[in-house]
Amino acid sequence: MIALGCDHGGINLKTAIIEYLKKNNIEYKDFGCYTEDAVDYPIYAYKVAKAVADGEFESGILCCGTGIGISIAANKVKGIRAAVVSNEFGAEMTRRHNNANVLCMGGRVTSAEDAVKYADIFINTPFSADEERHIRRVQMLKDLENGCFADEWL
Ligand code: RB5
Repeated sequence: MIALGCDHGGINLKTAIIEYLKKNNIEYKDFGCYTEDAVDYPIYAYKVAKAVADGEFESGILCCGTGIGISIAANKVKGIRAAVVSNEFGAEMTRRHNNANVLCMGGRVTSAEDAVKYADIFINTPFSADEERHIRRVQMLKDLENGCFADEWL
């Protein structure tokens, strides 16, 4: 099940993604916003990120004007690996290599058609769970989140 959120700058992309999810019988919950009135993106980033981090949703999709602000906010929530994506390769690699659990896109930089393509790739691409180097690096991200790093990193 996918958690969706956006601000006014990304509502066009969220609407297109909802249409895609419905067509493909993929369950989702829309955490807002629901109109084009200006809102503060950290609120929607938090709602979706918290729901994903708590394990209620497999992954999340967040859209704002650029995808940047909403990804920065989502990444403040422990357990979240949110990635701003603006091409098909990025959508695939952030799943395969980073095990990203939140996809972020920008309604002022990405067309609705492309956003649906990236969402489809993101949803259908698995993490490379049999490749030790990616497991190790994602673990390092988790360690960093807990303030843990090795002396050799300094
Ligand atoms: C809102 O105008 C805009 O700042 C927001 O959608 C996003 O692009 C922030 O990163």
